[in-house]
Amino acid sequence: MNVEHTSDLAARIATLKRAKNAVILAHYYTTPEVQAVADFLGDSLALSVQAQSTDARIILFAGVHFMAETAKVLCPEKKVLIPCPEAGCSLAESCDAADFAAFKARYPGYKVVSYVNTTVGVKALTDICCTSSNALKVVESLPADQPLIFGPDRNLGSYIQKLTGRQNMVLWNGACHVHEEFSLEKLLALKREHPAAKVVAHPECRAYILAVADYVGSTAGILDYCGKSDAQEFIVVTEAGILAEMRRRYPAKSFIPAPPEDATCGCNNCKYMKMVTLENICAALENEAPEIVIDEEVRRAAERSIRNMIAIR
Ligand code: 13P
Ligand code: SF4
Repeated sequence: MNVEHTSDLAARIATLKRAKNAVILAHYYTTPEVQAVADFLGDSLALSVQAQSTDARIILFAGVHFMAETAKVLCPEKKVLIPCPEAGCSLAESCDAADFAAFKARYPGYKVVSYVNTTVGVKALTDICCTSSNALKVVESLPADQPLIFGPDRNLGSYIQKLTGRQNMVLWNGACHVHEEFSLEKLLALKREHPAAKVVAHPECRAYILAVADYVGSTAGILDYCGKSDAQEFIVVTEAGILAEMRRRYPAKSFIPAPPEDATCGCNNCKYMKMVTLENICAALENEAPEIVIDEEVRRAAERSIRNMIAIR
């Protein structure tokens, strides 16, 4: 995109935001141009919390569909816009609400903990949501003898199971296309090339990747760790959008993206997050559409599970 076009669009978006009393919430995985027009940039937990505390009339969610849905669940009286409704999430899509209801029926007496990367229908079947930032706290808030269903991410679920030693936890078999694709062989080669670098990884990665990481954590956790660590170099095993924020916050440090199996690209991008563009943000603000609409009964059921999560943040 040419620079002039980008700055024209950014200026138009700023004017529309003021005129319409709109706020833009963006996830760290969006492109740097999109991050630059955001009023608030965060990981999925911080964005949910921010959504419920804004006074704006319109929330435009620069992120994937489940994130905008979460904002609408928490703020039913606000207009929540999703600039690209096709921006889904392979993890949320790996857990269909009807299939999840049938799975849940097989485990009477189990409490359901679901990652926020789920549709509103799955959240409505959930007792308490979590994000990668607070999954451990959420699971530990439940009595040790309480059997649990954890969904939909099998990698995050196994990681939490390992940390807590909980045996009574059944996992839904879902995964994220971005985090599952990192290559161990290529990561080990990078480690040999940069022996002083610390490896930071998101818990959605496979167990064999997490086993060689110096730090495992959510998007916000990884950002904090890189700031506090004495290391000057980091190999980053998560979605590459986070690199923009890392370089902004810590310009003197160096960040090396870990490559996926697919040799055609050097880093790993979430194709859904990259579907959000300045063009579709501008169009959504102009038209006040597409808007997130949720059935009220489903919304109320989902709200309980999200509020339970925010309460133990
Ligand atoms: P965070 O909870 O770290 O923001 O992660 C969101 C996500 O989609 C991870 O792939
Ligand atoms: Fe979903 Fe994975 Fe993209 Fe996160 S990175 S939004 S889990 S597909």
